Amino acid sequence: MAVYSRSAPKDLLDEIKHLEELFAIDTTKLKEITHHFADELTKGLSVHGGSIPMNPTWVMSKPTGHETGEYLTLDMGGTNLRVCQVTLTEQKSEFDIIQSKFRMREELKTGVAEELWEYIADCLQQFIKTYHGDVTNKIPLGFTFSYPATQNYIDEGILQRWTKGFDIAGVEGHDVVPMFEAALSQRGVPVKLTALVNDTTGALVASAYADPKVKIGCIFGTGCNAAYIEDCGSIPKLAHLNLAPDTHMVINCEWGAFDNEGKVLPRTPYDISIDKGSPRPGQQAFEKMVAGLYLGEIFRLIMVDLHDNHDAYIFAGQDISELRKPYSLDSAFLAAIEEDPSKNLSNTLELFQTDLNISPNAPELRLIRRTAELIGTRAARLSACGVAAISIKKGYATCHVGADGSVFQKYPHFKARGAQALREILDWPEKEDPGEEDPIEILPAEDGSGVGAALVAALTLQRIRDGNM
Ligand code: GLC
Repeated sequence: MAVYSRSAPKDLLDEIKHLEELFAIDTTKLKEITHHFADELTKGLSVHGGSIPMNPTWVMSKPTGHETGEYLTLDMGGTNLRVCQVTLTEQKSEFDIIQSKFRMREELKTGVAEELWEYIADCLQQFIKTYHGDVTNKIPLGFTFSYPATQNYIDEGILQRWTKGFDIAGVEGHDVVPMFEAALSQRGVPVKLTALVNDTTGALVASAYADPKVKIGCIFGTGCNAAYIEDCGSIPKLAHLNLAPDTHMVINCEWGAFDNEGKVLPRTPYDISIDKGSPRPGQQAFEKMVAGLYLGEIFRLIMVDLHDNHDAYIFAGQDISELRKPYSLDSAFLAAIEEDPSKNLSNTLELFQTDLNISPNAPELRLIRRTAELIGTRAARLSACGVAAISIKKGYATCHVGADGSVFQKYPHFKARGAQALREILDWPEKEDPGEEDPIEILPAEDGSGVGAALVAALTLQRIRDGNM
């Protein structure tokens, strides 16, 4: 819905029109992207691979609800480090959870590897001291490590590349588990890393535990990615292992890398500029258009561009030095703009004044609102292409998708816009009753990095006990 009126000066309206042309993705384009996406998912499973990694995770079954035991889980997220103690009780699908959050300092993300592992080990140690006291046997740990990693075993993770702005030397190409375990054993932390789990796998497992209709787990947060269950018979790159064709294997797609080769995504000059300025140019093309880390930055680049280079000259005569700071606006900033309920966008004006020391005039405020809508809508519509691509590849006519992440949870209209895009891509008829479920519903996931990671650890130990490892 456009919020600008004809009272805006013509040149600003032209700028809005131009942005609409750059950012709008119509149904035909959505379908083209989705079909290419589905082909690329298949290619990623082939022996030669493609740009989407399609990493086998060695999670080979869904939980039954009868898993039991005590587990620690650790989630190394972008802003926080979350440690949980999860008790899967004797009662079917019941669990208890205790958690602590520790701040991940910005410097840790681009610093030295040892410091990162030492910090994480310290947090775990502190947690165990607080909640466990003396520990006799090592506690099994499910480690949520949400970066692309090659796993030949479930307790291995060879980092393919850092994503989401992380850039720590000496880790890419190496197994992160021994590095982490070295820091644990130096401190005598009584923990055994049982499983390394991607956040999408955790979301899938935790959601499937509570809802058997869940077939896909997604994260729409700082990064964007999905996991689903594949049959080993459809994974040519695992053929040498001679696993039975109907054996299940959760695949962590790492779909943020979709279209790194630039074949189908309608990238704008702003997307290209984000890519060039990132620590890994040429990587995560899809993620850089849809994930929370980048949405505010796309917006910022547009604003700076309109101020510096276009006839409209927005924010004329004002000091925009705050706006010039890279990554100074996050997706919560965009969300606040989209959520502004006031007709004259007074909350947005206040936000710009407090955060950026800029006072936009009325037409500029309308341009700001429309720009946020365009970026948020494009992100939701492109995200839907990924979900539709997995569904097409797997032939799912109906299913539930367990989704988590800040964008999914907090960004206004993200769910409705995604659902609308799915409807267009998959040609669903209009609903007769608005309360009716869509054939494919994207629903809030259960706690993937807590309960999900604990369940994966439990399933792994069960498999070891059964002698299937
Ligand atoms: C990035 C990571 C991926 C993760 C996603 C969501 O895409 O590479 O592993 O699942 O972010 O956190």
